[in-house]
Amino acid sequence: CGIVGYVGGRSALDVVVAGLRRLEYRGYDSAGTAVLADGGLAAAKKAGKLANLEALLEQQPLPAGGTGIGHTRWATHGGPTDVNAHPHLDNAGRVAVVHNGIIENFAALRTELAERGHALESETDTEVVAHLLAEHFSSSADLAEAMRQVCRQLDGAFTLVAVHADEPDVVVGARRNSPLVVGVGEGENFLASDVAAFIEYTREAIELGQDQVVELRRESVTVTDFEGKPAEVRPYHVDWDVSAAEKGGYDYFMLKEIAEQPKAVADTLLGRIGTDGRLTLDELRMPDRMLREIDKVVIVACGTAFHAGMIAKYAIEHWTRMPCEVELASEFRYRDPILDQRTLVVAISQSGETMDTLMALRHAREQGSKVLAICNTNGSTIPRESDAVLYTHAGPEVAVASTKAFLTQVVACYLVALYLGQVRGTKWGDEITGVIRELSEISTQVGQVLETMEPVRALARSLKDKNTVLFLGRHVGYPVALEGALKLKELAYMHAEGFAAGELKHGPIALIEQDLPVVVVVPSPRGRSVLHDKIVSNIQEIRARGARTIVIAEEGDEAVVPYADHIIRIPRTPVLLQPLVATVPLQVFACELATARGNEVDQPRNLAKSVTVE
Ligand code: G6P
Repeated sequence: CGIVGYVGGRSALDVVVAGLRRLEYRGYDSAGTAVLADGGLAAAKKAGKLANLEALLEQQPLPAGGTGIGHTRWATHGGPTDVNAHPHLDNAGRVAVVHNGIIENFAALRTELAERGHALESETDTEVVAHLLAEHFSSSADLAEAMRQVCRQLDGAFTLVAVHADEPDVVVGARRNSPLVVGVGEGENFLASDVAAFIEYTREAIELGQDQVVELRRESVTVTDFEGKPAEVRPYHVDWDVSAAEKGGYDYFMLKEIAEQPKAVADTLLGRIGTDGRLTLDELRMPDRMLREIDKVVIVACGTAFHAGMIAKYAIEHWTRMPCEVELASEFRYRDPILDQRTLVVAISQSGETMDTLMALRHAREQGSKVLAICNTNGSTIPRESDAVLYTHAGPEVAVASTKAFLTQVVACYLVALYLGQVRGTKWGDEITGVIRELSEISTQVGQVLETMEPVRALARSLKDKNTVLFLGRHVGYPVALEGALKLKELAYMHAEGFAAGELKHGPIALIEQDLPVVVVVPSPRGRSVLHDKIVSNIQEIRARGARTIVIAEEGDEAVVPYADHIIRIPRTPVLLQPLVATVPLQVFACELATARGNEVDQPRNLAKSVTVE
């Protein structure tokens, strides 16, 4: 969910709604706001996208005031209805609260409140907080203190922001797990789940730590722990500006982010590969001695980041000769994985907030393993709780379906793999030297792919009435196929499956029927040509059964031509680098299909960009 709070001289409602607009990617099934004005509190909330709330505010304007909060929701407890939307108020309508996360003991708290005479209206866990805040405030008349008392009563993960009509110049926030950032202005202060919400007003920020409460007034920011002890804060300067958080002429953020990929890849490599082909990853802050002692790598991630991890496994094992496992973060800790001090756990996450991934890394650290985060969001929870971090420099990614973050995750994983090889003294043969050289050039090739996408878009439009698309790949092309299928599910809401091409004959081939579109990612005929030849046979097998074959193949690969109904050409790259160019047409394909089917590209139904619940 996205949270915004403001106190200052501007219209709080304007600041809050503009902030919510920038946070809408975090959830968009309902939105709401509350402002303090004329000694009272006024609130408005509406199911559906933020636009619905804006329409309501136009019909029934709220009074102007300088203190306010807002929320855009991704439903957990209770469906996305007007009543369940945030903010939630107490019975007297004096306190309003917005919340991100899950309060695990809400049922017990709710029963206690009902016994004390409170009437709760919604099905959400959040409403109990409004009532508890009101109770505690009535004895202390101090909202920050009331918030600390409430936090001590709550189990689970929560980020809360609240206002009280009796403290008209105060916004209070509390953080456990999901992020909360303070924007420090002059005579005004901001609070949000992401700096994007206030970047147009200030680039000075303070990230709240775990279990901290913040009190914002116009001229002050006070941070304590849940007990009230003053906490140390770490101010930082945000080094991107408002233009990075805007569409910049594109119809959708996703199109902008696809187009930004050459730069994102180049930025992620910048300063990390020397002219002598040696890698410098000083920022890792993991001593080489420690990296030499590692005997196994385990990658944990979710969604698209998981596919980046699957690709990384091929590179890590091939280049370092160390075993590497990849696992869905949500499965990892529940199966009692074998971990010790010699295991390096790599947690990949664009947002740095995904709860499944966070829980997996906590579990790994409890077992004594070292955790390295690969992350795109400075100062977010996952890197903060890891032993080391390598940032992807993709810039802010707003579209829910991940594109540029994915490419940079693959690049970052490769840097880690090569670095591990370097410090562990893996013999640097010509192959690896060549890969390092070509990796430095890869952003140009990503740019070349982007220039040839018009036929891919036309093909996508022609398939808009299909129900199913299959994707096949081998080796690193297999995770690419999975990612192509995931993009199509997320954006076009089509049934899409990715398979390892070799597995086809063991079952999925039964799905092939006349004119079924099948996208096949073909490995280079150079290098491991045996893989190439096998997949050419697979294409023949499915075509013989009626499939419409859409073949992604390297320039100059003529062997596929007789069996391809459509060919999408990609530049020549070493085998392991192919995902960086082969994924791009699949992103464009899914985006265009979504548009052709009239779907929301940046905000697909039921999804959220960062899922901060397990
Ligand atoms: C959500 C998003 C996916 C994303 C996944 C992991 O489910 O909808 O697009 O891949 O989370 O996100 P992360 O921020 O950890 O990379």
